[in-house]
Amino acid sequence: MIESKNAVDNEYLELELLLEGIFRKYGFDFREYSGAHIKRRLSHRLSAAGMQNFTQILHRIIYDEEFFKQILLDLSINVTEMYRDPTFYLELRQRVIPYLSTYPFIKIWHAGCSAGQEVYSNAILLEEENLLDRSQIYATDFNEKILQRAKEGIYPIEEIRKYTENYQKAGGRNSFSEYYTAHYDSALIKKSLKDNILFSFHNLVTDGVFGEMNMVFCRNVLIYFNKELQNKVLKLFHDSLIPGGFLCLGSKESLKFSAVEDDFEIISQQEKIYRKRR
Ligand SMILES: C[S@@+](CC[C@H](N)C(=O)[O-])C[C@H]1O[C@@H](n2cnc3c(N)ncnc32)[C@H](O)[C@@H]1O
Repeated sequence: MIESKNAVDNEYLELELLLEGIFRKYGFDFREYSGAHIKRRLSHRLSAAGMQNFTQILHRIIYDEEFFKQILLDLSINVTEMYRDPTFYLELRQRVIPYLSTYPFIKIWHAGCSAGQEVYSNAILLEEENLLDRSQIYATDFNEKILQRAKEGIYPIEEIRKYTENYQKAGGRNSFSEYYTAHYDSALIKKSLKDNILFSFHNLVTDGVFGEMNMVFCRNVLIYFNKELQNKVLKLFHDSLIPGGFLCLGSKESLKFSAVEDDFEIISQQEKIYRKRR
């Protein structure tokens, strides 16, 4: 249940009923997302739709699936970029790749992959370390629209300057322009980078483990969940990883105070890289 400051707070009561309705009608479970986050996102939709309260949203979503799809987009924040937090990728290259390169086959799960920039950043890094050929990457998200964009791998050309800067700071070995072709105002990710990536729908709240992973990325997703849900999802990652597998979280996320904290050693405190103990 979302955290309510006051049990008789009408707004939170309406919000809880709305989230219950979304779950019962469409199977998307936002009941354990951070209340403040959900409220902020839906308040924006309230005023855009000229509605007064969350109960009006509830009524409309029950009868209008298209409206629900809009709400779903409101509730998922898809902000991402290539080589987001370049120092994270530097650390990955220096501290994790040496272990991965000893494995004959590498299985990696990007959970909450958004439009794919993080996945392609990792694929490039693996290619530069001669590991891409023996890697299988699973990239998942619960937002179908954003997954479609991820599969396409087409990004606005004006974002490329920032991506190139990040790539260089992340210790990139080549010229970044080797990894895309420019086409009018878009950049198309090189096709060979996609060969070992499988994009698919997966809802972290309601769906199960991805077994036998050597590495799991889930960066900048847990910040939207409350503590209980964070714990549940971290347990899912724990169960998806083989002993010795790596878990990568976002800069504002951590295993601290979670139920699985003791099952992992810290590889990089700063970059939130952990390794499951044997
Ligand atoms: C802020 S983006 C992070 C993207 C990328 N990992 C990064 O760090 O750049 C958060 C992503 O998590 C996804 N997401 C949120 N809740 C989810 C859930 N329950 N199951 C799967 N994906 C979810 C959203 O659709 C969104 O694409």
